[in-house]
Amino acid sequence: MSSPARVTLVEVSPRDGLQNEPTLVPTAVKVELVNRLAAAGFPNIEATSFVSSKWVPQMADGADVLAAIERRPGVVYSALTPNLRGFEAALKAGVDEVDIFTAASEAFCRRNTNCSIAESIERFVPIAQAARAAGLRLRGSISCALGCPYEGEIKAAAVADVAERLRDLGCDTIDVADTLGVGTPGRVREAMRAAIDVFPIECIAGHFHDTYGQALANILVSLELGVSIFHASVAGLGGCPYAKGAAGNVATEDVLYMLAGLGVETGVDIDATVRAGEFIAAAMGRSNNSRAGRALLARRRNGS
Ligand code: HMG
Ligand code: MG
Repeated sequence: MSSPARVTLVEVSPRDGLQNEPTLVPTAVKVELVNRLAAAGFPNIEATSFVSSKWVPQMADGADVLAAIERRPGVVYSALTPNLRGFEAALKAGVDEVDIFTAASEAFCRRNTNCSIAESIERFVPIAQAARAAGLRLRGSISCALGCPYEGEIKAAAVADVAERLRDLGCDTIDVADTLGVGTPGRVREAMRAAIDVFPIECIAGHFHDTYGQALANILVSLELGVSIFHASVAGLGGCPYAKGAAGNVATEDVLYMLAGLGVETGVDIDATVRAGEFIAAAMGRSNNSRAGRALLARRRNGS
């Protein structure tokens, strides 16, 4: 299959970008981030998660965020839901898509959601039914698809196994997620091929953390296989509290710069995205981890 001419970008900074921040980010800042991303043209924004606030305190205001954002027609506002309670809260808050998240590693699944992979799938059965009944889109995430902080390297067969179970649950899309950011292009190709064997390629997303600086290369090999959905986070923010040592997600600005260079369409305005990245990095007192973002800002300051 040839590289796609158009890619769908899922902006995950309001959720993955912020969830690991020890200092609570004000709800108004989260709302402004989501609004800026919607205005920049992202078709899908992962706005928050409906998880236990004991496990992830930063996401406790998910319903408030969703209540306060401006809804742009055509934008899919998504959220993570680990159990039926989370799903019901997400439905009430008016999300368009719920993400049921599990892992290709037993140890990570337990650390992240306090259950085995099989138990996570059992928890998802009523969510999948309820999502269908409510007309919501259903996404399934496969964490630790390349490596696990507790189990080390993960085999592609484990990815295929979980992808199959998510397919049987009726997921519209699935994410092959490199939670730790340890994957290299050859191994990412294997993991993606394993997923493609059991799930329609146009419904598979790549979610790459950038710990070892491999994320853009991993996106490129996935694109060459025909994958056309990618997750990214402005300013390269991101991380999971249960994956110590993982860096942020691939920076959205860097992905946009690469895709523009390849002539791949996204429908997203890179300048507005760079400004959104600067906004959230400044609001959090963080350095902006997007190389393209920093370069474009410097160019603008120099008037070139
Ligand atoms: P548990 O402790 O086994 O569950 O956690 P529990 O039923 O005993 O509940 C514990 C407490 O949380 C109780 O409160 C529940 O009521 C409450 P208490 O009675 O003690 O006061 N609770 C909830 N509150 C709000 N919303 C809910 C909810 N459920 C229970 N939905 C549980 C199990 C799944 C809840 C927990 O492990 C959890 O919330 N885990 C989420 C961890 C998480 O969010 N991790 C980060 C997201 S995944 C990620 O980053 C990876 C990704 O980016 C892809 C990649 O990079 O790999 C997606
Ligand atoms: Mg992640």
